[in-house]
Amino acid sequence: MPRPKILLTRRWPAAVEAVLAERFDATFNTDDVPMSPAAIAEALRTHDAVLPTVSDKLPASVFDGEIRAKVLGNFGVGYNHIDIAAAKAKGIVVTNTPGVLTDCTADIAMLLLLSVARRGGEGERQIRAHEWKGWCPTHMIGTKVTGKTVGIIGFGRIGKAFAQRCHFGFGMNVVFYNRSMVEPAEAARYGARQLATVEEVLAASDFVSLHCPGGAENRQLMNASRFAAMKPGAYLINTARGDVVDEAALIAALENGVIRGAGLDVYEAEPQVPEKLLGMENVVLLPHLGSATEETRNAMGMKVVDNITAFFEGREPPDRVA
Ligand code: DGY
Repeated sequence: MPRPKILLTRRWPAAVEAVLAERFDATFNTDDVPMSPAAIAEALRTHDAVLPTVSDKLPASVFDGEIRAKVLGNFGVGYNHIDIAAAKAKGIVVTNTPGVLTDCTADIAMLLLLSVARRGGEGERQIRAHEWKGWCPTHMIGTKVTGKTVGIIGFGRIGKAFAQRCHFGFGMNVVFYNRSMVEPAEAARYGARQLATVEEVLAASDFVSLHCPGGAENRQLMNASRFAAMKPGAYLINTARGDVVDEAALIAALENGVIRGAGLDVYEAEPQVPEKLLGMENVVLLPHLGSATEETRNAMGMKVVDNITAFFEGREPPDRVA
């Protein structure tokens, strides 16, 4: 029986690639050059499984015509880069990697919140530029975090892990918006309280942190009127997806002092970051590092291994999303 032919669109952790090479007839992207949608479309015609990552684009057009692939083992929890309806229409199973990146993504949100509140990026730039003149009572004054209110949009795994850090680690009040009702006792485990609308959360919060999925349902959830609804002087943190924020409206809100700062790990057109954001001292920018730890990236890869192994053994993949 020939081994299933699989293709990885990018370089993965070496230990994971080694397991895949043992179990499958694997094509690796040894140059690690991002694949175009046309190249991915070709791979879908020539392989039994394609293993994309969150930075690939799989619009409906890549699924046109005759397709050999039966499964997409996505390396990542978010899958808004895949046209799920089109994949489903071709009978393709799609899996993701939930759970294993919860802590690391919540940590990156905390890092952004602390960096923007305490001006960590600015301070580091000042020292590296040899511009620091020494301690004085009025130097680079930031915002105290303890005792402040953080508002979380999306109370899934990562939202909860972030709430726990904010409340139990940093003494913050935590409110959140979630589409479905969360039992008050469950919310209390994370030191958090549910409010009925996004607007109520925005009005109550000194920091707003986004933890909802990207894609059509949340596209530009943070728009000009939502920025205007934020507390004056508040900060936005985004570790969710770039498309959840209208970047032009964010830039305007920062320029006009509607909000005080932002901490961003994700962008609308990654890896492009708007020039205006690059020039703003009150914005902390990271290059989509939420899950970027050795432990988490290995665990994400091994989840994909488990998912596609289950699929080709005729079992239900543990993390099937379509
Ligand atoms: C994901 O898995 O969706 C993350 O954005 C990758 O860090």
